[in-house]
Amino acid sequence: MDYQRFTQYIYGRHAWGPLFRQGDLPPLEFTDSDSSIYIEESLEVMGVGDDDMKNLDIFNIGVGRESIYFQKKGAKSVTYLDICPENTKNVIKYCENKSIKNINVINANIQEYNHLPSNKFDIIFLCGIYQHIKNPSDALARIVKSLKPKGKMYMGFYRSGEWKYFVIAIIRILLEENMFSKVKKYGAILESFGELNHYQTSRLMDDFFIPCMHKFHPNDIISDIKKLGASVFYFDNDFREYNHESNEYFSIGGDRIYISKEKESNYEIEEISKNLITKTGIDQITEVNYKESIISENIDLAKEIRMRYELGEVSSDEIVLLTLSLYNLTRPYKPSECEYYMETKRIGRHKVMNKILSNFTKQIIAPI
Ligand SMILES: C[S@@+](CC[C@H](N)C(=O)[O-])C[C@H]1O[C@@H](n2cnc3c(N)ncnc32)[C@H](O)[C@@H]1O
Repeated sequence: MDYQRFTQYIYGRHAWGPLFRQGDLPPLEFTDSDSSIYIEESLEVMGVGDDDMKNLDIFNIGVGRESIYFQKKGAKSVTYLDICPENTKNVIKYCENKSIKNINVINANIQEYNHLPSNKFDIIFLCGIYQHIKNPSDALARIVKSLKPKGKMYMGFYRSGEWKYFVIAIIRILLEENMFSKVKKYGAILESFGELNHYQTSRLMDDFFIPCMHKFHPNDIISDIKKLGASVFYFDNDFREYNHESNEYFSIGGDRIYISKEKESNYEIEEISKNLITKTGIDQITEVNYKESIISENIDLAKEIRMRYELGEVSSDEIVLLTLSLYNLTRPYKPSECEYYMETKRIGRHKVMNKILSNFTKQIIAPI
C-alpha cells in the first residue's frame, strides 16, 4: 500500500483527524483527548511561561488542534504542517472564519519538504509524529535545522521494548489490510456503542493499520540528535531494553525527549541524513533479545494462527475478534473496567496473552 496515500487516508478519515478537527475533547482518563494538558506539561519542562508566548515562533505537526492551541495562547506565529489535506484545509477554514493571520499552514510530507526556514523556530512541538514518518531521519535533519539556537524542541516517540507495542506487533502478525472495515465496525460495536468516530476507534485504526509505526531505542534517537549538532536537555534516562511486566499503563519510560542546540545549523540535509541511524525502528518480533521463553512462545503461537488463517482453517471474523481481545491487554478504553486488562495485572501480561492465544489454537480453530 502506498505510504503517503494510506497515511493520509487513515489520519484524514479514520483516526484523530476526524475526531479532533473540531478541537479537543473533554479530558478523558488514560487518554490525550485534551492536548492542552500535555502541551502545558511540555511548556513547563521547556521553562516557557505565558508571557513569553508573544515572542515565539512555533512549528507543529499534527491534526491542527495543537497549533490552534498555541495560537490561542498568544504565540507570535505558528507554522503548522500536516501530510493530510483534510486537516490542513480545516485549519485554513478556521483561520479564515476567525480572521487569524499568524498561522502558516503547509500541506506536505515532512520527510521531503525543503522549504522550512533554517534556524527559525523557538519551539518545535512533535507529539505522536516521528514514528509515523517513513524515513524518520530525513525529517529529523530538516526539523533540527529549522530550530533556532537556544530554541526548544519536544519530541515524543514510540519506545521499543514497550508492552503496548509488543501487543500491537503481535496483532499486526495476525491482521491483513482487507480486515480494515471489520476492525473499525466490530471495534466500534464492542468498545464505543457503535460510534465510529470515537476516541477508541481512532486508536484502533491508528495502531492496527498505520503503515509506519517505527519503534526506537532512545540511544538511537540521542545519537542522531548529536550528529545533527543538537543536544538533549531533558530526558528521564530510561534506557532499558524492555519491560513487559510492569503494571503501569505505559510500561517503560524514555519516550519523550527535549532537544536544544547552541549554534546555527548549516549542514546539507542530504549529506547529513546518510549518517543518521533512525532510518527504521526496531522490529519487536525479530530484533529484541527476549530472555523469557513465554515471550517467544507467544510469538510462535501468533505465527501459527496466521499460517492456519492462510490455510483457511480460521475465518477473518475470528481473527478480527481475536485482535480486538488482545488489544484489551494494553489499551482498552477504560482499563480499570476491562476484565482482560485487569487479568494482566492479576496473573501477568504474557500469561494472559498465552492463555488467549493457546485457547484460540486449541479450541476456536478446529483441531488438527
Ligand atoms: C497521531 S496523529 C497526531 C497527533 C497530534 N498529537 C495531534 O493531536 O495533532 C499524527 C499526525 O502526523 C501527521 N503525519 C504523519 N506522517 C507525516 C508526514 N510524513 N509528514 C507530515 N505529517 C505527517 C498525520 O497526518 C497526523 O496528523
